[in-house]
Amino acid sequence: MKFLVTAGPTREPIDPVRYISNRSSGKMGYAIAEAAVETGHEVILISGPVNLARPAAAKFVSVSSSDEMFEAVQQYADESDVCVLCAAVADYRPAKVSPLKIKKHAEKFSVELIRTRDILDSLGHRQDRDFLLVGFAAETNDVEENAARKLREKNCDIIVANDVSGTNSAMESDANEVTILFQNGEREIISRAPKQIIARELVKIFAIFARKMFDKKTVMITERN
Ligand code: CTP
Repeated sequence: MKFLVTAGPTREPIDPVRYISNRSSGKMGYAIAEAAVETGHEVILISGPVNLARPAAAKFVSVSSSDEMFEAVQQYADESDVCVLCAAVADYRPAKVSPLKIKKHAEKFSVELIRTRDILDSLGHRQDRDFLLVGFAAETNDVEENAARKLREKNCDIIVANDVSGTNSAMESDANEVTILFQNGEREIISRAPKQIIARELVKIFAIFARKMFDKKTVMITERN
């Protein structure tokens, strides 16, 4: 199968030397790309700026801003069987990017922020979607409730919920614990383990689910003919 994986944070520029970003390390997304390659899948990894080695056998697309990630995902999604959007995409970006370095003047300074485009939501609401769509949910509270809302509203097939609060936070860590939510209301928990182990389990689950989805479509097309 062909996997598309997004990973890492995005950077939203303020001026030539400053940006808004987040603490995502990219480790979970890179581990999923690596695990998919190991299993024999073809992988496109679309990555924001991180300090990790690229999985050698994956096609690699480097992006910086949420707009760049949006465009790259639209370009490659249709040729994929499974799209796993693991990146921590910024929700807001500066309304204006100054072409020159902004100088300090007054005691207070504010930057107007506007919403970025939601990549997962845009794929989830495409009528012609022919791939399995997996989103991640980074939550500090009411983890399952919030993740279930994202699954519903963004119309994806699977949401993988991460707890990013307190000392057990998945952010920047080498370990994670996830709850996987499916559209039919079923859920599965993978208890705390290194991200490599979690990634292998996730890739297995995604491939099985995608296979079932494609088989069902084939039966429907055959019945129609
Ligand atoms: N996502 C996206 N594009 C955005 C924001 C988020 O594709 N502009 C995707 C992420 O890659 C992830 C999912 O949406 O798969 C959920 O991301 P998360 O940061 O947990 O939630 P948000 O939708 O940003 O909502 P909130 O910040 O309010 O929790």
